[in-house]
Amino acid sequence: MNVKDLYIDFFEKKGHKQIPSAPIVPENNPTVLFNTAGMQPLIPYLLGQPHPYGKRLCDYQKCVRLTDLDEIGDKTHHTFFEMLGNWSLGDYFKDESIEYSFEFLTKILNIPVERLAVTVFEGDDKIPRDEVSANKWMELGISDKRIAYLGRSDNFWIAGDSGPCGGDTEIFYWRSNDDIPEVFDPEDDRWVEIWNNVFMEFYQDENGNITELSQKNVDTGMGLERIAAVLEGVDDNYMTSIWKDVIDTICDIADLPYEGNEKSMRIIADHIRTAVFIAADPAGIKPSNTDQGYILRRLIRRAIRHARSLQIDINSNWDEQVALLIINKYEKYYRELSDNKEVVLSVLKNEKTKFSRTLEKGLREFDKLVNVDNKVVNKDVAFKLYDTYGFPIELTIEEASDKNMEVDVEGFYEKFKEHQEKSRSASKGKFKGGLAGNSEMEIKYHTATHLLNAALKRVIGPEVYQKGSNITSERLRFDFPCDHKLTAEEKTEVEALVNKWISEDLKVTKNQMSKEEAIASGAECSFIEKYPDIVTVYSIGDVSKELCGGPHVEHTALLGEFKIKKEESSSAGVRRIKAILK
Ligand code: ALA
Repeated sequence: MNVKDLYIDFFEKKGHKQIPSAPIVPENNPTVLFNTAGMQPLIPYLLGQPHPYGKRLCDYQKCVRLTDLDEIGDKTHHTFFEMLGNWSLGDYFKDESIEYSFEFLTKILNIPVERLAVTVFEGDDKIPRDEVSANKWMELGISDKRIAYLGRSDNFWIAGDSGPCGGDTEIFYWRSNDDIPEVFDPEDDRWVEIWNNVFMEFYQDENGNITELSQKNVDTGMGLERIAAVLEGVDDNYMTSIWKDVIDTICDIADLPYEGNEKSMRIIADHIRTAVFIAADPAGIKPSNTDQGYILRRLIRRAIRHARSLQIDINSNWDEQVALLIINKYEKYYRELSDNKEVVLSVLKNEKTKFSRTLEKGLREFDKLVNVDNKVVNKDVAFKLYDTYGFPIELTIEEASDKNMEVDVEGFYEKFKEHQEKSRSASKGKFKGGLAGNSEMEIKYHTATHLLNAALKRVIGPEVYQKGSNITSERLRFDFPCDHKLTAEEKTEVEALVNKWISEDLKVTKNQMSKEEAIASGAECSFIEKYPDIVTVYSIGDVSKELCGGPHVEHTALLGEFKIKKEESSSAGVRRIKAILK
């Protein structure tokens, strides 16, 4: 049995029900592009909603983390990975959780206890030191010298900056042939973290206030790629059984050895695997210039560029060979891969056709610069590479850095924005030679739409988000997921809430930040035109925070009175509100 099967089998025997991996694109959480941890789809249940499968759950969850995108190419980073997890939803707590982890590692995976060390939460002014966990570890045979007490930045876990959270205990493995030191030093990177057990007993709000949850939960996460490397005794994840055949296939295609070509081969392997999983996701993501579609495009294009650098004929079916191998490897666990095989292959093919047509020309354009442009790719060239040759800005940056050049990224974004505003205005037939755009009334409706979204979330539920929106100078229209016709009370409550916020004259503030920062700050980001990496976040007091291109009014009192004119069905499970400002 492989680790994944052993894990599920073990926890099922401990009374856990296996839940299927949720899609990588979250179904009810537009604030994140992808699920980044096993707990993300479980947030409502950690907060107290009963789970249909009970209080003890386990799974392997497909995750995509983009924070390490630039690190891909080294031995240990991946954009896609599988997280093994087990949960107690208000059932067992620290003692059993630690016992289960210890038993699985030492009895099922046969890891010698001498190779293990742990960290526990040292406590702070709000939450006491976690003696319960430390005592449990000692009782199980971990010496007190192998227990390190660390603070919030290490041993407290939360996804983003608000939500269910708690102190955690992390398990480390000595991955080295050097003698194992008696005393555990978490700074020594021969100790690698393999498992995180989070004791989710608190809720942290946006202001950092911590309150107790109605139930004490356990949320654990173990990265499959890493535990496989540990068990197989290799320090390069791409040399484990998870990747070995993929790398071998790439070596065959390129007719080159792995040694000396590791970086490009790892990037191809990693990016094609992630692209396969994103394209096969039920959300139906296609390469585009926004959101998940942009990430998909960026991954495929980067893989193509690295294939080219290995002298692979990019117009051959190299990408299909890699993708089919990945589908074969994983379809037993993820049926969507075989169900959507044709979709995946056509996504890869279409994107390659689009990109390969201009790639050579773009690279030639780039090479022309090396002599003339004094080591800096100026904004006009960076924009031309993007606009005419389809180079995501990150690709230009990478190409430049290979040639010891820099890119005027800020200038690029300025041009990008200018261009976007121009085409947006032009498409509305309003381009008057400047950055003319929305009328005063439309701007007001724009802000009112954010308030309506926030009010619906509070009155109907957190599953509400902007599925569609349309604004004229006469009214706003807003589509959102909801399984019932709103009652008169609900409508009145929504109106009252919006009007209350208007009368409070909340300040509307605008901040630019990276997409990752925006996501981490909990900003909502559905259906809004976005820039590749730098986004604008509009906050209204502390009632609403959304990624948005704007524009908005400066404070809410300017809006006047908000009134819902109509509430109707838009399509199955989607309601539509038309509302006006008086
Ligand atoms: N949610 C925890 C993590 O991702 C287990 O580390």
